[in-house]
Amino acid sequence: MNRFKENSTTKLLQYASVVEHCQRNWQDTPVSQKHIDSIVKVATTMPTKQNNEYYSILVVTDPKHRHNINLLCVNDGDAPTIYANTQMSAPVLILFFETKGRFRPDGHDRLEITEVDNYSYNAGFAIGMSAGAAAIEAAANGLHTGFCKCFLSKEIKEYLHENIAMKSDNPKLHIANKDNGTVELIIGVGYGLKDIPHNKVYYGNTYDPVWNPNSRKWDLRQTYRKKIHVDQI
Ligand SMILES: Cc1cc2nc3c(=O)[nH]c(=O)nc-3n(C[C@H](O)[C@H](O)[C@H](O)COP(=O)(O)O)c2cc1C
Repeated sequence: MNRFKENSTTKLLQYASVVEHCQRNWQDTPVSQKHIDSIVKVATTMPTKQNNEYYSILVVTDPKHRHNINLLCVNDGDAPTIYANTQMSAPVLILFFETKGRFRPDGHDRLEITEVDNYSYNAGFAIGMSAGAAAIEAAANGLHTGFCKCFLSKEIKEYLHENIAMKSDNPKLHIANKDNGTVELIIGVGYGLKDIPHNKVYYGNTYDPVWNPNSRKWDLRQTYRKKIHVDQI
């Protein structure tokens, strides 16, 4: 399916204009493993400072785990609900963890640390670039994406540790060790509902009294239209 008209803009601009928007409703259609793999390949190929491993990625497709993560995508102090960030009810969640200073032995970073160059900044840049490219690759494959930064990072880490790592016999799981890092960003990936605006929050037939008795007011999530200032000299 090609939902773009052939015109004068580049394909990348067309994909970016899909990625710009946060998809808040989803079809049940699963994402093929081929698409997941290509998204992850792009995400792990983008540059990082000195090519260090500033982040790791966890792809979650298991419905139970996705639901439980979705519940924890709320602001600090808010009760768990799926309704605050329904972009997180996508069929695939890609979690980005900032790793904790695990430089390669021959890494040069330690020699280059300056006042404005610290690990977390570099990890943030790395995750941002990786996630952006991943979303573009998703759009190039006809998928929609929704980013989320509003979540209870500590609770998600604990959930993953207790419910996945502790029950897994894969010793290489990054989340096997809680000290390995923190969840910094999550992207939902899937196919948005047909003929429904991307920002229409999908409730199904359920109503969540925990979140907010007026939660149906969230029906359409309106966001700010940005105008990034650009100069050329
Ligand atoms: C890094 C990043 C984090 C985001 N975190 C959230 C979030 O936690 N909650 C949310 O509702 N939207 C989040 N968004 C989605 C943006 O708010 C959305 O893409 C943008 O405002 C465009 O809005 P639109 O979908 O209405 O066009 C995030 C986007 C990015 C790029």
